[in-house]
Amino acid sequence: MSTIPTVSIASQPKKKVTTRTFLQKKTRHEPITVLTAYDYPTALALDRAGIDAILVGDSLGMVVLGYQNTLPVTMEDMLHHCKAVSRGAETALLIGDMPFMSYQVSVSEAVRNAGRFLQEAGMDAVKLEGGRERLESVQAIVAAGIPVMGHLGLTPQSVHLLGGFRPQGRNAAAARRLIEDAHLLEDAGCFSIVLESMPSRLATMISEQLSIPTIGIGAGPGCDGQVLVTHDLLGLFQRFTPGFVKQYANIYQVMETAFAGYIEEVKQRSFPAAEHTTEMPDAEWEAFIQDNGNHKG
Ligand code: KIV
Repeated sequence: MSTIPTVSIASQPKKKVTTRTFLQKKTRHEPITVLTAYDYPTALALDRAGIDAILVGDSLGMVVLGYQNTLPVTMEDMLHHCKAVSRGAETALLIGDMPFMSYQVSVSEAVRNAGRFLQEAGMDAVKLEGGRERLESVQAIVAAGIPVMGHLGLTPQSVHLLGGFRPQGRNAAAARRLIEDAHLLEDAGCFSIVLESMPSRLATMISEQLSIPTIGIGAGPGCDGQVLVTHDLLGLFQRFTPGFVKQYANIYQVMETAFAGYIEEVKQRSFPAAEHTTEMPDAEWEAFIQDNGNHKG
């Protein structure tokens, strides 16, 4: 069995990324890097690789828990995974995704649930989906001292309303509504907005008009930063891959090959080998056998 290759990351001590860093990066035209994580080892690897922010997305419902969409994900699911991520990351800005029905029912529920992400799960900020219909909640959460990231365009929690996972803002009226929503979210106090699956030139225009950074996913290169679902980037989610994803690895294949190797070696009795096994000195073994014989009925 060959040894597993390791890549050494040139790690220089990094300062904790904050919402202020996001704004500074936009001002300096430095792209902001964001990826999702749902567990400790992924958070550790992302943090050490130098990611700016980790989003504990409710996409965990699909890529980790195996649901068809994000709607069944609960607050308890999110907090559980956020806690694991916060144990792995030191410098990245940590953003917890508010799940379906945790912020839509009332403003007070939205504030209470947003608070749990910071108080119980070690997050630095929360994300929620929607535009003009969410302004009151965004304002109240921000007023409670909790940074909010907005999310416009393809908002997966509205998959049924949108008629499927499809690009948004592709006609003049829809584009106008999205640009208005982006301004309203900025005015309500969002520190950043995810723009998902919308025409590239629309996302560029929104990014140019706002003073807060936009983070694109399927929205072209004109956004101030980019985010992907890590399982898509790693080739770990097999059910489907959106067209805007670039796969940087095929980890699912690596896993399948490793599992098949293990199964084969156990069947062949070539694993465990001597180096995976512990032994005791012969004299001790002899004493044990003798003692054992003496104790037999
Ligand atoms: O849940 C998620 O991972 C997200 C990103 C796709 C932006 O919302």
